[in-house]
Amino acid sequence: MSEQQAHLRVNNEEIALTVKKPTLGKDVVEVSPLVKHNLFTYDPGFVSTAACESKITFINGEKGELLHYGYPIEQLAEHSNYMSVCYLLLNGELPTSEQLKKFETQIQAHQELPEPVLETLQGFAPAAHPMAKLLALTSSLSGFYQGQGNMSTHEDQLKVAYHLIAKMPTMAAACYRHSLGKTAIAPNAELDYASNFFKMMFDKMPSATIQRALDRIFILHADHEQNASTSTVRLIGSTGAGPFESICGGIAALWGPAHGGANEATLKMLKQIGDIADIEKYIEKAKDKNDPFRLMGFGHRVYKNYDPRAAVMRQSCHEVLQESNSQDNPLFKIALKLEAIALQDDYFIQRKLFPNVDFYSGITLSAMDIPTEMFTVMFALGRTVGWIAHWIEMQNSSEKRIGRPRQLYTGPTRRNLV
Ligand code: SDX
Repeated sequence: MSEQQAHLRVNNEEIALTVKKPTLGKDVVEVSPLVKHNLFTYDPGFVSTAACESKITFINGEKGELLHYGYPIEQLAEHSNYMSVCYLLLNGELPTSEQLKKFETQIQAHQELPEPVLETLQGFAPAAHPMAKLLALTSSLSGFYQGQGNMSTHEDQLKVAYHLIAKMPTMAAACYRHSLGKTAIAPNAELDYASNFFKMMFDKMPSATIQRALDRIFILHADHEQNASTSTVRLIGSTGAGPFESICGGIAALWGPAHGGANEATLKMLKQIGDIADIEKYIEKAKDKNDPFRLMGFGHRVYKNYDPRAAVMRQSCHEVLQESNSQDNPLFKIALKLEAIALQDDYFIQRKLFPNVDFYSGITLSAMDIPTEMFTVMFALGRTVGWIAHWIEMQNSSEKRIGRPRQLYTGPTRRNLV
């Protein structure tokens, strides 16, 4: 990676900082030496901060481009499958058919949950939010597998990845059935990943359309660079905490409505709008600074163009609705009309606010009879591979050190109690 310099003049001092060039995207200025000049950078929300070096995913927000180890998301969604994308994110290359078969066998061998892990659910009321249940189940995995193997060897790191990728659908489905007062359905190693999940949820096989849509939804959610939940996983992992507890942090961070909770919030918003005739009223509310209402599923910290995942999701949504003859689904019609109106409105155009991955996912999941409160669990299911891939990349990085940001202190100066 070639280097050049940036010069900062501050407090009558000239400071030379190294500029590192990426293979794709924005140059980065290495600001670590600033502390020696009695300076910190200040960047609430990390809008302009590159927290680490990574090879896994690249996003060009201006172009609306998302690449996983160089492959465009729309090509992976169209021509690949979730298991192959998991292999890609963990190994940096798409698998040969033989490598894929071996990988799938590994995943199928790790789908079962130890009974005491399932019993964790007994500590919850059926109506408890499934993200709370998923968090507890994932934490209880740590009680089983923490300390197993040597987390500094790639082989043992991959074994943890198999446990997490394989068990997430089993845990997610168990959370859903617990909400119905039903016992969990055991995984079936004969089934593909998406069909197995659907079967554990509803005790029936999905149609080919739903199986394809589910697999695509998992691909679209697999990884997204240094988003809030992935950055949380990295920060927890940087302290030496294990993979399972690090992923627990990712699940907790994803739950927020500004992040992975937006799919659930988007469907609730569409139901709140309720009628195409009321769309304008809600768009005005979203534009009103004094009104906390925002268009959920719209806007993105990085994308200042159409989120490429949203376009694929919209296509999937249409296919699933068509199969169930509900392309006249009122929420889908409200979503399409809302998107069309917002994209022509100056407020959204000036702020480069476009639909994101969460805008259509809720309608698609709803059309599969997946309940609204399970939407963020579905997001966590797809994103687990991204979380563990970043956790592993960080473990093997020469730059690995505990993450410990500083602050702009504006509190009281020193004062004495006595
Ligand atoms: C995900 O980071 C990732 O990669 C996340 C994700 C992933 O795969 O991991 O892509 C998944 O989290 C997608 C985003 C899901 N969230 C939502 O859909 C919630 C609604 N969106 C907003 O809350 C917001 O757009 C964020 C949180 C996504 C981004 O917030 P930013 O980058 O901090 O932007 P901002 O709040 O500074 O907004 C800039 C301007 C503001 O107006 P001004 O003060 O400049 O006048 O745009 C406005 C905001 O008020 N704005 C919106 C809006 N989003 C931003 N106005 C109305 N509706 C919105 N949705």
